[in-house]
Amino acid sequence: MESPCLLRTSFYHVRPGSKEAMDDITFRSDTVLSDIHLHMPNKSHLMVRLNTVGQPVFVSQFQILWDEDLRDEKHSKNGFEREAATEQDKYSENWRREEGGHSISEDERQSRAFQGLEALLDDDGDLEVIRKPLEENKEHSRETIHPIILTKATEDPTEDEELEHFCQDIIKIEHTMATPLEDVGKQIWRGAFLLADYLLWKRDLFRNCTALELGAGTGLPSIIMATVAKTVYCTDVGEDLLDMCERNITLNKHLRNLSGAEVKVKELDWLKNEFCTDPGTSYSWSEEEIADLYDSTSVILAADVFYDDDLTDAAFRTFYRIVHNLKNPCTVYLSIERRLNFTLRHMDISCDAYNHFRKCLHDLENITDGKMTFSAEPIKPAFPQFFVYERVEQLELWKVTTETLS
Ligand SMILES: C[S@@+](CC[C@H](N)C(=O)[O-])C[C@H]1O[C@@H](n2cnc3c(N)ncnc32)[C@H](O)[C@@H]1O
Repeated sequence: MESPCLLRTSFYHVRPGSKEAMDDITFRSDTVLSDIHLHMPNKSHLMVRLNTVGQPVFVSQFQILWDEDLRDEKHSKNGFEREAATEQDKYSENWRREEGGHSISEDERQSRAFQGLEALLDDDGDLEVIRKPLEENKEHSRETIHPIILTKATEDPTEDEELEHFCQDIIKIEHTMATPLEDVGKQIWRGAFLLADYLLWKRDLFRNCTALELGAGTGLPSIIMATVAKTVYCTDVGEDLLDMCERNITLNKHLRNLSGAEVKVKELDWLKNEFCTDPGTSYSWSEEEIADLYDSTSVILAADVFYDDDLTDAAFRTFYRIVHNLKNPCTVYLSIERRLNFTLRHMDISCDAYNHFRKCLHDLENITDGKMTFSAEPIKPAFPQFFVYERVEQLELWKVTTETLS
């Protein structure tokens, strides 16, 4: 399995009930930490509880940075939207022409980067760094730095009504800080912010829709989608994770523009062919919910779920199975981060998980089952940032559209 984060880092050993719990840090090799949490101060007061498996749980608060210009409907109908659409067309066209619809190899990417680098070297081989003017492109972008912890977490964040009243644009997310690979859903990943940015930017597209999120983890895109949608099926696997996700949905009921959407946290395991309908199991589906999902869903979301080839295959199978049962055409938005690792196999840096994702997309577009066609295109990540995080160039957002053949 490919690590979902370049960084393998410390895992906190906690003495339950201890105030100094977070000061006791030991290192384990099988633990990963999301870049989103990397710059958070390791302060015990931000820890709110231990979860049922003894992992420390934190609450981070992320502010939606509304841009007054973008909020203005008139503005979005003219210059910026048109300009962005033209840019997007060029971007998709270039991508297809350059790569022939396939992923270019990491060797090629590196060699292109190196050629670019060579041009920046002086006669002695020293790198001449050209600083980007700070004001450049200020209209459409924001300074990208690490997340900000806005306030100290309270013992029980659901009770913090006063804060809710004043902070209608603040999203609170419970998460853990560092996890073994099998628990990566308990952290927030950059791909979730990229997708959330897009949902906020294009929110008019999603008004009153029914959406399904796969591998939702802590639930950020579902929470954003719920500010405009009618119903959101927010799915993942594992009771502990789904409990955390459900709690996050509850924590964010205060959000501005909340459309009154119904957010249903449900189990959807890509490794199983059926929905869990056992009423004795938490987060199982009723027959009515399954029928509603098939009748009404028009948008499917997945953020950063392609990091292990077997799971990627399973996620694509699930997506294919669900899409075939939908009554209406649907659009799928997938975010992914190309995490480059040095491998002895390639003797170079590469991202096999990304290459596999691109192969799955390519296979999907070439399916000839006589029932549906799929078309995939990358979305140029030039849309505004509503959250503060580092939008690295390895972050990508893909749109897949489906068409039913009559
Ligand atoms: C890297 S996390 C991303 C979480 C969240 N979307 C985000 O971006 O913050 C990958 C997610 O895929 C989920 N996942 C892994 N295997 C799965 C499976 N078999 N069925 C459903 N979800 C799965 C994990 O539980 C986890 O929430």
